[in-house]
Amino acid sequence: MSFRTTSSTTAVGTAVDYVEDVSPGSGALPPRAWYASSDAKSLSLNGRWRFRLSATADAEDDSFAEDGYDAGDWAAVTVPGHWVLQGDGAFGSPIYTNHLYPFPVDPPRVPTENPTGDHLRLFDLPPDWPADGGTVLRFDGVESCARVWLNGTDIGEFKGSRLAHEFAVGHLLKTVGNVLAVRVHQWSAGSYLEDQDQWWLPGIFRDVTLLHRPPGSALDFFTHASYDHVTGEGTLRVDSDVDGRVIVPALDIDVRTGEAVTVPVRPWTAETPQLYDGVLATAGESIPLRIGFRTVELADGLIKVNGKPILFKGVNRHEWHPERGRALDLETMREDVLLMKRHNVNAVRTSHYPPHPAFLDLCDEYGLWVIDECDLETHGFVEQAWRDNPVDDDRWTPALLDRAARMVERDKNHPSVVIWSLGNEAGTGRGLTAMAEWIHARDTSRLVHYEGDWNCRDTDMYSRMYAFHEEVDRIGRQLDGGTLKRRELPFILCEYAHAMGNGPGGLADYQRIFEAHERLQGGFVWEWIDHGIRHPELGYAYGGDFGEELHDGNFVCDGLVMPDRTPSPGLVEFKKVIEPVAVEGCGDGTVRITNKQDFAGLSALAFTWSFQADGETVASGTLPVPALAAGESADVKLPEPPADAPAGAETGWTVRAVLAGDTSWAPAGHVVAWGQVPVSARALLSLAATAGAVADGGLITLGPAAFDARTGALRAIGPVEVTGLRLDVWRATTDNDDGAEWQTDARYGERWRKLGLHRMRHRLDAVEAADDGLTVRTRVAPAAGDVGLSTVYRWMSDGSRLRLAVSVTPEGDWTVPLPRLGIRFGLSGADRVTWFGGGPGEAYPDSRTASTVGRWQSTVDRMQTPYVRPQENGARADVRWAELGGLRVEGDPEFWFSARRWTNEQLDAAAHRTDLVPGGTVWVNLDHGQHGIGSQSCGPGPLPQYFLNVAPAEFSFVFTATDRENV
Ligand code: GAL
Repeated sequence: MSFRTTSSTTAVGTAVDYVEDVSPGSGALPPRAWYASSDAKSLSLNGRWRFRLSATADAEDDSFAEDGYDAGDWAAVTVPGHWVLQGDGAFGSPIYTNHLYPFPVDPPRVPTENPTGDHLRLFDLPPDWPADGGTVLRFDGVESCARVWLNGTDIGEFKGSRLAHEFAVGHLLKTVGNVLAVRVHQWSAGSYLEDQDQWWLPGIFRDVTLLHRPPGSALDFFTHASYDHVTGEGTLRVDSDVDGRVIVPALDIDVRTGEAVTVPVRPWTAETPQLYDGVLATAGESIPLRIGFRTVELADGLIKVNGKPILFKGVNRHEWHPERGRALDLETMREDVLLMKRHNVNAVRTSHYPPHPAFLDLCDEYGLWVIDECDLETHGFVEQAWRDNPVDDDRWTPALLDRAARMVERDKNHPSVVIWSLGNEAGTGRGLTAMAEWIHARDTSRLVHYEGDWNCRDTDMYSRMYAFHEEVDRIGRQLDGGTLKRRELPFILCEYAHAMGNGPGGLADYQRIFEAHERLQGGFVWEWIDHGIRHPELGYAYGGDFGEELHDGNFVCDGLVMPDRTPSPGLVEFKKVIEPVAVEGCGDGTVRITNKQDFAGLSALAFTWSFQADGETVASGTLPVPALAAGESADVKLPEPPADAPAGAETGWTVRAVLAGDTSWAPAGHVVAWGQVPVSARALLSLAATAGAVADGGLITLGPAAFDARTGALRAIGPVEVTGLRLDVWRATTDNDDGAEWQTDARYGERWRKLGLHRMRHRLDAVEAADDGLTVRTRVAPAAGDVGLSTVYRWMSDGSRLRLAVSVTPEGDWTVPLPRLGIRFGLSGADRVTWFGGGPGEAYPDSRTASTVGRWQSTVDRMQTPYVRPQENGARADVRWAELGGLRVEGDPEFWFSARRWTNEQLDAAAHRTDLVPGGTVWVNLDHGQHGIGSQSCGPGPLPQYFLNVAPAEFSFVFTATDRENV
């Protein structure tokens, strides 16, 4: 018995064979460069479109494409947009999977349930629309398959969601009453090629435009602009399908298309994005050119631009907006670029598809190296050991080549694009080789990247993702073996430092390794932005929040910026780690300044010094730094320390490199890099135990403090009530603590929970009141195990201040590090917070490079980092003292400080921001130690030096009641 006779269904409505056809489509024009003509007319068809959703591809016939069809009862959607993000759920919901196909893997077949959106737009031509020439209808992005009719004529269908498709429509247009009908299917054969780790979001999500093509207009052109770093000259040649002239006034160039001209130029680099405005003038139109001269090559085993090896300090960027999904407007794209530039990012991998073309214009203009990646991922086939993988099946090769060509042809004129990437996580196969061969032949001026083949058969660089520090170091030392070809290639980490939730930790350690070995040319943090979807009840939704059958939870929220583009602490850390100038103290009142850029000198920067006493700046000035070419260093003498710095204060210098003048991406004064040089250490508090513990009814008093006489629990310090003070070893596990399920290394989140560190019991062994203080002896241990922490709290007072010394002695055989080790307590009220120590933001042992020692002020609420899935956050490093809630706490040694309006247990239980409801108590953690963060949600855990190993520990705090007014 046969269940089907044809490869697709045709029962009710219209023929939809094309949906499951491996071909890229039919009817579209050949791909070409994307540009905006200066004088040819265009008409945007963005806006409100009539919309009808069907449950299957064939539910409706195509009569809606006919003139006169009455769509009066249809709904409406905004184009560009995804229908599942419009209509308040009436049009279905988003689905998030990392690599699993959300449908049975049976290529090229797709489910019968195939949400299909019919889109209808009526339009008139503007009165001045020329009658001569042709007209092209352009779609910049439609997910995942569209069939198009204009005025009742079927003009074709296409797949390749994030690629442009154009149709010649001039012969079909009317002056008034044009009917554009687009049928969009969520699932198609193309979906098998688009298994990127992101939301599945159907719709016409990029612009739809009508472009007039005057007679004699250019069809396509290719700007070749190279730079010879030896002569300082650039060579320009613009090849055009239609002859014309190429004019670049600033360079005095006026040549025919196809003719090469060599002139002295300033080269384009990401650090110095020099663009020359020009024009390509053909008989029919003028096309603005933005020319950047640069030469990209593989030479001496290195990726070189303009003769020099470059170091990528990059990010992986998906297109994302928390309300509009992948339908981005220009301002959002610009915001990404500005944020990147302001955080010292110099490169973007357009993971995992060509972005909206306007983004590349911005990269040209502001200066970012770009790896432009093809819209290709077949990761889900890994579930079946890559059997039937389309990239190794010749039937799919035309679709793969179509995708490669649509990327290269569209984006070939961008100087920022230095590398083409074949796609992501698609295994290996002949189709990839065909793509690489085609790209190499079409564009000899750029290199080819692909990560999925570690033998580098088709690529110009060895690329990996999430390789651990130790392996990267080995690769840098050329000790990693591999094929001969691979051994001769440079190395990049196209993804590393998984920025999910709190973290990533270990960035500085990677950077040190990159900088130590020439072969290592840097990497791209995964990833730029959390793809949270704004949600009225949840704050931001992630996988599973729309009732998906299969999903990967909050793995979609792993960015350096929050969904609303608020920089997370991870981005602040990255900015510091990759700063283009290093400032290091080298003794004798001298700092070493190193220009770590690849090309630019320091002329855009000014240097300042300031001198701090106990975290307060007491003097400041400018620091003359000699001109340093890229890679050069100089030792610069600091001024004499100010004579009037308070005696006994902790002192030190802060040297900053700031923008000397306004730039297009940040104003003068913007801090680019900085360093701190300590001068004198702080004097530690000494406290004489002059007060004795006095029993008074149910209480014991000691100086300003009152304790419960039976339990030894602290009740108050002066007027400040204190609750629940005790040892704390638990933190709400971070995504990186929990680790990805496939990790073979210890995933401590799980092991901590198994051991019971989140449910420690505190046994009271003794309360000993004496003339020199109060001692409370306890044993802190989880049920069901024999490990414990013998914990002694020793309190003493000089009458006005109260000192707590905590001594922790491990018992039993501990086989895991601790999440944290310190004390926590509750205060009945606290809002404003002042501290002297690391700030202004969050820091953990392996993500503390950006923590600056100083005097900081904040509030309890602002000290929280609102990760989309709540987890441990907000610790401040190296805190000498902190004031909040009417208390001052001074630490010996420095401590990690956090305060929040919920307990660590409540934080741990929360799944979304909105689960965190402030209670009446502010919970304060003063930690002697924190375990490192790492990036085990996809990469390595914390390096061993950041472990909080279980060992005997002693630490102390001095508490003073301060002015309650300050609360
Ligand atoms: C990589 C993949 C990315 C993303 C990341 C984890 O394997 O290329 O698309 O899934 O892992 O967030």
